[in-house]
Amino acid sequence: MPHDPTELDRAVTALRAGELVAFPTETVYGLGADAANPLAVAKIFAAKGRPADHPLIVHLPGAGYLEQWASEVPPMAWELAEAFWPGPLTLILKRARRVPKAVSGGQDSIGLRLPAHPLALDLLRAYAAAGGGRDGLSGIAAPSANRFGRISPTEATHVREELGDAVQVVLDGGRCPLGIESTILDLTVAAGQPPRLLRPGHLSPETIAQVIGVEPTWPESTHANRPRVSGSLAAHYAPQTPLRMVSSERLEHTLLTLLAKGQRCGVLCRQPCPVSADAVRRVLPDEPTGYAFALYAVLRELDQRDLDLILVEEIPPTAAWRAVADRLGRAVHGSGGGSTAKCEQH
Ligand code: TXA
Ligand code: MG
Repeated sequence: MPHDPTELDRAVTALRAGELVAFPTETVYGLGADAANPLAVAKIFAAKGRPADHPLIVHLPGAGYLEQWASEVPPMAWELAEAFWPGPLTLILKRARRVPKAVSGGQDSIGLRLPAHPLALDLLRAYAAAGGGRDGLSGIAAPSANRFGRISPTEATHVREELGDAVQVVLDGGRCPLGIESTILDLTVAAGQPPRLLRPGHLSPETIAQVIGVEPTWPESTHANRPRVSGSLAAHYAPQTPLRMVSSERLEHTLLTLLAKGQRCGVLCRQPCPVSADAVRRVLPDEPTGYAFALYAVLRELDQRDLDLILVEEIPPTAAWRAVADRLGRAVHGSGGGSTAKCEQH
């Protein structure tokens, strides 16, 4: 989508003045601020309602900026940056001492990424060209531009709906092409150890292994309730309407039972949808890339329909669906909805 250069100028001016700017990335929209300015960073936490100990990702204008933000850049980080940046991969490295703690929630590590969206890159480069932020550091801290624990925005209108006037400029780049957040890889491991996958994403561990020669480990804590990665809290990415996972075989029967009880039900299924009953149905592609692209927008839309319950058809338990399964699982949990087992009691 073509963009208005004056909007970009306004965005750069706002960032340099310590204000918030939302911008599209290839994954989801980010809520940006000067990463080197603790007051600007505090505005992100306030606007999102996010606890201050949840670290933010700093978006860089180029891989060369790694050394501004990280105290050590191991060879593996350069290899990964070379292979996958710009792209949906966040690297956790040791934080450089001059970088204010606020941006990393007080931790001595820092999340860094170079996004692939042209508008994000234009913004980052224009910001750097204008002198960047405090102390000559050039990086935009940006979590997903949603209220804490809610569904990440994949369109500019979602950001406005959720954050309103807290954001001075919202750059509109249309629908985010990937639709789910970046893969997060922790490289602050002991020398010789494989990196740790903290959040699955479009970029799979298998693809990462092709570059670094070893598969990242996937610690139990990726699934546990640890504040280190807020996207890893069991309840996250959640709509307000209860969501429930149901197997393809049980979907129609479960729906009919609930409809007979007078419940207003929505259904989120895969092509071809196994349900013919009359309900609000949303049918997503039966492959993970297309499913991820549409998922958050559809959840958001269903959430606004005043339904009692949204039934979600289970997705295949295969590696290709891992990132989608991760988001759906947390959405179900966060919405207060139940598991298949619970559902089958109806
Ligand atoms: O695709 C994305 O990564 C999007 C776009 C806007 O870039 N950003 C995003 O940010 O998803 P956020 O804040 O919603 O999720 C970033 C995750 C959080 O769960 C945070 O805890 C984790 O990254 N994270 C950031 N810095 C970290 C660090 N130093 N150590 C461990 N986890 C970190
Ligand atoms: Mg988020």
